[in-house]
Amino acid sequence: MNNKKVACVGSGVIGASWAICFALKDLDVVVYDINDEVLSKAKTIIHDNLNILKENNVLDETRLQEVENHIKLTTSMEEAVRGACFIQESAPEHYDVKHQVVKEIEKYCLDDAIIASSTSGLLISEIAKNAKHPERFVGGHPYNPPHLIPLVEITKGEKTEEKYVQQAKDFYTFVNKEPVVLQKEALGFICNRLQMALYREVCHLVESGVCSVEDADKAVTFGPGIRWGIMGPSLIFHLGGGAAGVDGLMNHLHDSINLWLDDMADFKELPEDWPQRARSGVEEAMKNRSEEIGNNEESLKQYRDHMLIEFLKLHHKL
Ligand SMILES: NC(=O)c1ccc[n+]([C@@H]2O[C@H](COP(=O)([O-])OP(=O)(O)OC[C@H]3O[C@@H](n4cnc5c(N)ncnc54)[C@H](O)[C@@H]3O)[C@@H](O)[C@H]2O)c1
Repeated sequence: MNNKKVACVGSGVIGASWAICFALKDLDVVVYDINDEVLSKAKTIIHDNLNILKENNVLDETRLQEVENHIKLTTSMEEAVRGACFIQESAPEHYDVKHQVVKEIEKYCLDDAIIASSTSGLLISEIAKNAKHPERFVGGHPYNPPHLIPLVEITKGEKTEEKYVQQAKDFYTFVNKEPVVLQKEALGFICNRLQMALYREVCHLVESGVCSVEDADKAVTFGPGIRWGIMGPSLIFHLGGGAAGVDGLMNHLHDSINLWLDDMADFKELPEDWPQRARSGVEEAMKNRSEEIGNNEESLKQYRDHMLIEFLKLHHKL
């Protein structure tokens, strides 16, 4: 990249993490937020997250300093976005805020800068509806935390031009992400739909007394989940089919699969009592875990981050 300046607009959970992701590739990141108090919190979060990378031997102290020095924080939108080739917007998830932010960004940014919104579910066409250049707006939906999880789902608005989609894809690839492009808008994008398809069945299995929340989690973690961390369900099924491949497996199991599908959950709304049942199930599961693998929110998070980092090293993503 010739122009190494990128901007993060919004420095909360997602914006601060994006800043780390970009700085790890030695890009010059300018982070904007509305006041110094918020920016000071972001600075601490950035520092703490870099320290976790250091504790897990991803960085040494010298490299940590280098990465941190690539990140500047400002309350001036002009300073943040002027001259930046890529702008990652991570402001609160409301159309009125996003519209205001788009207007501010476009006052100062380059005419051909890519503006990517981290939005979890708002429409890009709507976010960019008053924009001067709606053609360069894309959705760049990360998974939390973006400095660790490789996936980015790229979405297009009605007026987004293909060349900007391709440039966004190239940019995310450059910063070590694994972008996937949605060919048309879909609520929940790809991954939230997949997650909820599985979770709907978890609810159903627990509510109908087949297993506990703990055992459903265990079944995923030590069964398909551990394989899905290596490759997706289609490639895994392809191997499961042996010499016959995925089509062979589907043909072989066809009648059984149809029986399962017929018996599985197809409800359109979560059962009302599910949040409470989920909570009780999680509390019960935590009692049966050791501190080493996490048995409260803090130790669970530490264990998750440590395992995630080890796993990403295996994938050559860190
Ligand atoms: N939290 C997640 O797990 C997650 C995952 C993927 C995507 N997202 C998306 O990322 C975006 C940000 O979410 P978050 O979780 O970081 O929220 P957050 O509340 O942690 O951060 C939002 C930040 O935006 C700042 N802000 C407020 N008004 C602003 C303005 N006018 N201009 C610029 N910044 C402003 C806030 O001060 C805050 O620092 C949302 O669109 C959300 O849907 C969140």
